[in-house]
Amino acid sequence: MLNKTVSELLAQDLTEQEVEIKGWVRTFRANRFIALNDGSTIKNIQCVVDFESFDEETLKRITTGAAISVKGDLTESEGKGQHVEIQVKELEILGDSDPETYPIQPKKHSFEFLREHAHLRTRTNTFSAVMRLRSSLSFAIHKYFNDNGFYYMHTPIITGSDAEGAGEMFKVSNLDPKNTPLTEEGEVDYSKDFFGKETNLTVSGQLEAETYAMSLGKVYTFGPTFRAENSNTSRHLAEFWMIEPEVAFMDLAGNMDLAEDFMKSVIKHILTNNREDLEFLDKRLQDEDKRKPQNERNDMTLIEKLNFVTDNHFKRVSYTEAIDILRNCKPNKKKKFKYLIDQWGTDLQSEHERYLVEKHFKCPVILFDYPANIKAFYMRLNDDGKTVRAMDILFPGIGEIVGGAQREERLEVLKQKMAAINIPEEELWWYLDLRKYGTAIHSGFGLGFERLVMFATGMSNIRDVIPYPRTPLNAEF
Ligand code: 4AD
Ligand code: MG
Repeated sequence: MLNKTVSELLAQDLTEQEVEIKGWVRTFRANRFIALNDGSTIKNIQCVVDFESFDEETLKRITTGAAISVKGDLTESEGKGQHVEIQVKELEILGDSDPETYPIQPKKHSFEFLREHAHLRTRTNTFSAVMRLRSSLSFAIHKYFNDNGFYYMHTPIITGSDAEGAGEMFKVSNLDPKNTPLTEEGEVDYSKDFFGKETNLTVSGQLEAETYAMSLGKVYTFGPTFRAENSNTSRHLAEFWMIEPEVAFMDLAGNMDLAEDFMKSVIKHILTNNREDLEFLDKRLQDEDKRKPQNERNDMTLIEKLNFVTDNHFKRVSYTEAIDILRNCKPNKKKKFKYLIDQWGTDLQSEHERYLVEKHFKCPVILFDYPANIKAFYMRLNDDGKTVRAMDILFPGIGEIVGGAQREERLEVLKQKMAAINIPEEELWWYLDLRKYGTAIHSGFGLGFERLVMFATGMSNIRDVIPYPRTPLNAEF
């Protein structure tokens, strides 16, 4: 007796043997054919029931969503769509599912509807494929860094510093909100709080990762990060996962090389290992495209897009060059952009990033050397005194997927930059210590994991690539 997954059963050629399988009923057709799925593959296994051998009560309980266990012989299938099937000899209902109320009926559901049933949406083909890919990408990321001599570092979730200096943080406190202790000046007295100081959920593990890069050489973090920015877009979450490598003695050019090699490697991994799920999602996207007006359709299929990234060099373009291109492009001149580009120094919006990638260069783009005042304080100031060694990677359909930089390693320059935006030296004394004791150039970047999963699955809303999305006014499940 073999107890295997559906994926294993479908992959083998050995028929005429007895097997046992457990899973959830997708459909039950003609009182005879059960399509059973156990999550191990996008495919179902067909279980053929001879209705004369089972009592009516049992047959009635084989409903969509029910958990069942079947034993029977694996045989070659005569029907279309599968090469093997199970001739059921024994069948047990493990858990009934009420067909009147079960929300995941065998028909098309909108993603909005499925978001409200996120605890059951992985019982659909689309979401099970997306989440298998998410898992596979996560493995590929750890594998890449492990294969390349990086150490995995767990940076803290609760922090006393604001890494990005943007102030969009969630407070962590156990003070009684109805009876908050106040200082003489009438401010909240955080010295009475749990940690004796003001603390937040982290927006990035970078600053702590830098400390380990400056001793272990090559490190990365991969963990949840939190941002209280009130942006209700299809690309922002309040809780998202970020991958942040940090490397000592590496400059910005090395950082770009690392990011490009890394992105290509994880995409190659899924192209090799997750073919069936990708083919399913590729077809889903093509079907979705057919229902859209011509000008909104994708130029490439999903798999073409993934190959496009692995096969093409990422185009490296300075911010200044990009501004020139954008200032003179058609949508800017015809005022088609929501935010018009008129002068050097303005921040780029997603519409501009996507124009550069999708219309102008038609390949992934790495923009670098941004104006200092639109980027974080820790980025290394260039000799021109007005740009910093920042880099953003822009992907088709996504816009910014990676943000990174060469870090400011000069103590005095860093102090000045912190002072300019009122970050007290006492708050980041340990960060400044790195510049006092054995400072050296170093660089790193952050990849938004959900943006990568969006790109890899062709899903267009970030809420559909994380199990339980956290967005403004929404923390269900
Ligand atoms: O560009 P960001 O803010 O960079 C940092 O946090 C740096 N400390 C990273 C580093 O150099 N170690 O964020 C990095 C990436 C973005 O490019 C984007 O892909 C993703 O994180 N990201 C978000 N993803 C989902 N929801 C949000 N609200 C996001 N904010 C950033
Ligand atoms: Mg960024």
